[in-house]
Amino acid sequence: MIIRILGSAAGGGVPQWNCNCPNCRSARRGDGAVRPRTQSSLAISPGGDQWLLINASPDIREQINRFGPFHTGEDSRGTTIQSVILTDAEIDHASGVLFLREAGQLTLRTTQTVRDHLNSAFNLIPTLEAFSAVNWKDISFDGPFLRGVGFEISAISLPGNPPTYTSRSSSDGDTIGLEIRDFESGRIALYLPAIGDLPRSLQDRITRSNVAFLDGTFWSRDEIASVTGTEVDAMEMGHLPVGGPSGSLSRLSTFTDVRKIYVHINNTNPMLHPESDERRQVEEAGFEVPRDGLTVTI
Ligand code: MLT
Ligand code: MN
Ligand code: ZN
Repeated sequence: MIIRILGSAAGGGVPQWNCNCPNCRSARRGDGAVRPRTQSSLAISPGGDQWLLINASPDIREQINRFGPFHTGEDSRGTTIQSVILTDAEIDHASGVLFLREAGQLTLRTTQTVRDHLNSAFNLIPTLEAFSAVNWKDISFDGPFLRGVGFEISAISLPGNPPTYTSRSSSDGDTIGLEIRDFESGRIALYLPAIGDLPRSLQDRITRSNVAFLDGTFWSRDEIASVTGTEVDAMEMGHLPVGGPSGSLSRLSTFTDVRKIYVHINNTNPMLHPESDERRQVEEAGFEVPRDGLTVTI
């Protein structure tokens, strides 16, 4: 199974259009320190000829155009992308499906909860359906929701929040993680772009996996508050910070048999700077801060 990071940044990307934090300034200057990054998405493929998108970011057009294996067909229209899985209904993970409206027929896999958000509060699906038929496939938690030749994918229910644009309180299925299992290699990859907490059950799954793509949104709880001048707290946004005594870095650093790769990294996160003390801590603990396009095979 091939797993490619299409975009490693959280919402806003790097640089974010209106942000003048040191990372965004560096990425905008192009000084070679902080790399520009597109918003959060993966592509996976069992054999390299058919692909699944995991999350559809606002940068989807650029991400798809950049990657040759999506464009191998001889017909007048077509792509090797078979379907899109959404792990939540956040704007940075879901709004990209609008830019696939030329599909004619689009297969979308989400939980019922995400489907409700996208149908009502966001109105994304009715808008998309005016252009392209949407073939819905439900993601449930009772066993793998997708079985392909040589692989299967299961959903992990994660504690999380509904998107800010809804008026709902949180419910099961707002936020999921994915467990991707390759039968030929016997290896497992986890995709966890929004970790609100690290309960024992999730730690156990991480221990059993070979590669874990982990929520790297914020280094500290007050990081976004200090840039925006608001009171926003990382944990209340559903993102366990990387740093600090109870952050994911310290809590998962003993999991040495798992390849640990941070994704969904916000532009304010100091670990994006290659010379920062935070990056040094991450790398010394054996975690990776990937660039867009990093490809992992399990
Ligand atoms: C998140 O990852 O928590 C969301 O994308 C934040 C948001 O844009 O509301
Ligand atoms: Mn996000
Ligand atoms: Zn910034």
